[in-house]
Amino acid sequence: MIDKVEAAAHPGGVLIFRPPFTSQNTMSDQGVKSASTESAILPTYARAPVAFERGDGCWLTATDGSRYLDFGGGIAVCCLGHGHPHLVNALTEQAQKLWHVSNLFQIPQAERLARRLVENTFADYVFFTNSGAEALEGAIKTARKYHAANGHPERFHLITFEGAFHGRTLATIAAGGNPKYIEGFDQAPWGDLEAVKALIGPQTAGILVEPIQGEGGVRLPPPGFLRGLRDLCDQHGLLLVMDEVQSGVGRTGKFFAHEIYGVTPDIMSIAKGIGGGFPLGAFLATKEAGKGMVVGTHGTTYGGNPLATACGNAVLDVILEDGFLDRVAHTGILIKQRLAQLQDAHPKVIAEVRGEGLFIGVRLHTPNAEFAVAARAEHMLVIPALDNVVRLLPPLIIGETEIDEAISRLDRACGRVEQALAASEKTTS
Ligand SMILES: Cc1ncc(COP(=O)(O)O)c(C=O)c1O
Repeated sequence: MIDKVEAAAHPGGVLIFRPPFTSQNTMSDQGVKSASTESAILPTYARAPVAFERGDGCWLTATDGSRYLDFGGGIAVCCLGHGHPHLVNALTEQAQKLWHVSNLFQIPQAERLARRLVENTFADYVFFTNSGAEALEGAIKTARKYHAANGHPERFHLITFEGAFHGRTLATIAAGGNPKYIEGFDQAPWGDLEAVKALIGPQTAGILVEPIQGEGGVRLPPPGFLRGLRDLCDQHGLLLVMDEVQSGVGRTGKFFAHEIYGVTPDIMSIAKGIGGGFPLGAFLATKEAGKGMVVGTHGTTYGGNPLATACGNAVLDVILEDGFLDRVAHTGILIKQRLAQLQDAHPKVIAEVRGEGLFIGVRLHTPNAEFAVAARAEHMLVIPALDNVVRLLPPLIIGETEIDEAISRLDRACGRVEQALAASEKTTS
């Protein structure tokens, strides 16, 4: 049976709100609160009623000892699965030496990670952050500063896309008190080059785009779209800013998704997979695009500290190993073939299978949040997204055994959804 109340609380899996607590801690006269079993975490998430205490490869073990196949990966974060020995060693070795020093000093681990990112991408410079949203804010600032450095501070608008998701911290910009920075985002429909052209004006600084939309529902760019954006940027002196927070670091079978389309950005934000589960993000830029970011223009306390960048280096040791990315691409093809068979077997449930590599979206005919609950009842984790999609974001190290296991669990989840559908058809007829 599918829990409809819980399912309804996951609209697209983006921002999730839960009704306020029904009871509160009570305060005594001395200002000491009585013990409560209620969560003291601000109730902004509708959490599923399960907690995990261990992870091992593609599997998570819950506090009750039951095991779940993890095709959510902490929302595309755990790119090497859970407890990968190379990551565990790198983290524990670094933890025994030095955790944090601040960016007032040289950080060899960060230098090494930045050098490797530069050597393997279009970029000349890297700035490390702790999260995707911070990476985005830095990328946006870099684009604005570029035009300011060129004598055009009025060019601060970015064209963005409907269905896009870039993070939740614009409040920090607003809090800076400069109303100019609160505005400045012009939105075009996804894939619509003509609409983008129409939005370009004297205030436009650049175009901000996810090469493949993640929260939007693993929406691939229509043929020629990213190339068209690149050409428009070149014609109008704009910067192409790509958000690869979700699509990057091997997820698509390329180091970065834009490589699939042969289109190179000027600035790129990354996060999620680069830390393999340790909070780490970055924005990358060409020398030209980064020219406004001089000493004193940007900073962070934690970003790029020794512990985080030791983890980032360990992730790259694996991802950049010869043949690793080709294996991801190949595994992606295998799993999509198996999902296509599942679609044939359950045409009332599965509408479409799409994606690149192990960045996979399954669009459904039935509500995606209910499907996620049905999958969880089969001890498999998937992540809802917009466009009535569930995302499959397994660890990039997944093998055929886990694929077989995933397909049988998804098959049974489809069965549960079909049963619920049949039961509701019966009551309405
Ligand atoms: C494409 C994209 N950009 C930015 C973000 C924000 O990242 P974070 O949640 O680490 O701030 C996300 C998070 O899901 C994302 O998918």
